Amino acid sequence: MTVEIRPIARDEAVEFLRIVPGFAGTPSWEAEPPAWHSGLGIAPRFDEPASSEDLAKAAAGLCDVDRTRAAFVDGRMVGTSQMLSLEVTVPGAGPVPMGGLTAVGVLPTHRRRGLLRDMMRALIDDCHERGEALATLSAAEGSIYGRYGFGPATYQTRWELDISQALRPYRHEQHGRIELVDARTAKAAWPHLHDEVRQSRVGEVSAHHGLWDDRAARTGAWQYLLRYDDTGTVDGAAVYRTPWSPDPATAGTVEADWLEAASAAAYTDLWAFLT
Ligand SMILES: CC(C)(COP(=O)(O)OP(=O)(O)OC[C@H]1O[C@@H](n2cnc3c(N)ncnc32)[C@H](O)[C@@H]1OP(=O)(O)O)[C@@H](O)C(=O)NCCC(=O)NCCS
Repeated sequence: MTVEIRPIARDEAVEFLRIVPGFAGTPSWEAEPPAWHSGLGIAPRFDEPASSEDLAKAAAGLCDVDRTRAAFVDGRMVGTSQMLSLEVTVPGAGPVPMGGLTAVGVLPTHRRRGLLRDMMRALIDDCHERGEALATLSAAEGSIYGRYGFGPATYQTRWELDISQALRPYRHEQHGRIELVDARTAKAAWPHLHDEVRQSRVGEVSAHHGLWDDRAARTGAWQYLLRYDDTGTVDGAAVYRTPWSPDPATAGTVEADWLEAASAAAYTDLWAFLT
């Protein structure tokens, strides 16, 4: 048995994606898709493998192909992994280069024989060569990655505000304005806003390829808010919805999926609007 760990060629991208858990329809234990999983607008779609058409589309848009590391056994691809070239904001230094680990998968027939270990070695060596200070991931199973030097950096949070306690009537601030816009208008404003906000917010990560397309293309009755300052510059954004529920206990719930603000005024204003 010969094992080879190497980056894939562009024409191997479809085969690569077929193994990646999200595209293969493999179940996940995560409540939500990881922060930068695929970012190509079609995966993860758990329980349903991507169609040939979806795979071809995603393969054509696959970024950082040179940062893939696939495992080949006797010439056949059986394992996948990749680092995305991202930035993370750290105390004191601002944004620094970071490897974003993604697309980790080994075919069930080839597990527990060291292929992930070999791929991780290759990926981390490459991070060192590139001078990246950090590698991070959003792990499907936290128990796997400690052995490679990863540890918890942040936890997902979910807040529920009881409106009887938290309701604060929305009042229009004297400075700035909030508008409901269509997804296209919102998408055009998000990259610049995010790039501004992440400069000073520790732990914030640069947008991966396809993030904004994904966010704007999600199904469901999402509403897109932009907040403009006095000069007409976008200084805040939020995405929310008010899903229908047959249960009186949850009817009338506002689900805020994403909120980003470049100033305290914008932050307060957006939360006041949502509550
Ligand atoms: C997780 C996965 C990639 C591991 O691949 P693998 O090639 O079998 O892993 P290896 O044989 O290289 O094992 C590496 C180490 O991880 C451990 N390990 C493997 N799978 C594990 C699991 N599910 N939970 C905890 N530890 C695990 C092994 O015991 C081994 O430990 P050691 O080196 O200290 O002895 C593979 O099981 C898989 O594809 N799972 C489904 C998809 C998935 O969960 N992907 C991760 C997305 S974040």
